[in-house]
Amino acid sequence: MKDGYLNTAKDIYKDAAINPEKGLCCTTTPIWQLPELTIPGKMLEMNYGCGTTVNPRDLVNNPSILYVGVGGGMEVLQFAYFSRRLNGVTGIDPVKEMLEVCDINLKEAEKSNNWFNSEYVNLKEGDALNLPIEDETIDVGAQNCLFNIFHNDELEIALKEMYRVLKPQGRLVLSDPVCEQPIPENLKNDERLRALCLTGAIPLNDYLNRLTSIGFGTIEVRAKRPYRVLDPKHYNTDELIFIESVEICAIKDPIPKDGACIFTGKTAIYFGEEELFDDKKGHILLQNQPLAICDKTAGALADLGMHDILISESTYFYDGGGCC
Ligand SMILES: C[S@@+](CC[C@H](N)C(=O)[O-])C[C@H]1O[C@@H](n2cnc3c(N)ncnc32)[C@H](O)[C@@H]1O
Repeated sequence: MKDGYLNTAKDIYKDAAINPEKGLCCTTTPIWQLPELTIPGKMLEMNYGCGTTVNPRDLVNNPSILYVGVGGGMEVLQFAYFSRRLNGVTGIDPVKEMLEVCDINLKEAEKSNNWFNSEYVNLKEGDALNLPIEDETIDVGAQNCLFNIFHNDELEIALKEMYRVLKPQGRLVLSDPVCEQPIPENLKNDERLRALCLTGAIPLNDYLNRLTSIGFGTIEVRAKRPYRVLDPKHYNTDELIFIESVEICAIKDPIPKDGACIFTGKTAIYFGEEELFDDKKGHILLQNQPLAICDKTAGALADLGMHDILISESTYFYDGGGCC
């Protein structure tokens, strides 16, 4: 795959920096409202993400945060809300105009947020495919609606770069579109549609497999929601294509011998006659109490063939706790 499309993406985001484009990427998911956080209007207009990557649960113990593909800076500001220290958040973008606008927006945010100092954020020119960041220095790395633009080879490089810069147990938090239907080649190779985060989506399981093949030992699928349709009237496709967006956290834990732990929102409930069921592999199911389980544990429990354990379907809403 020729990498000229990467320049098309940069050009498109140069334009989107100069002339903010409402509706580019973005979902109608409510924006985080937090005490004493006021997000400048220009940042809201430039919300080019497709979910959120900011989760207080990831942000304990003063983490060093890396944000790749800064856009108008809304999530960078939200991360700074939790870190509140000089250079606590590093924001990377290869598009000079985007960095400039992000910087202006952050300075604007200083005026309406007493707690905020724009020096909490260190903006740097750089590329997701070659991060200007030392190995194993980052606790939380985030990207929102960027990696889906990349074709296979570049996606591999971008994920490996994130893995490289994360400390052990560090977290990659991402939001991206996914699509379970095959997207026609002509649309996949349309550089503009791809850059607009419309036609580069891959199936969720492919995304998860890529993360585990790089070495992430624990994966959390935190949300999945409808994102866009590509319909035959507006796009060059014979069938209607449904695209969703996901929020995923991939943790740089070692991969267990029996495979990575992938949480997709499954739960096990034991409803037998005993007080509890112990599978002797670290999973204790209290009578009629739900236990969040990873897909691997769900498979192992199902293989036991017990009639008094219910294993729920994936909800694609996982918010912590449970087995492993
Ligand atoms: C869809 S926007 C998302 C912006 C932001 N994450 C948000 O949620 O609003 C993609 C961002 O990635 C930047 N970008 C484009 N190509 C990039 C690359 N190769 N490496 C890093 N960032 C890139 C764009 O300039 C833009 O800021």
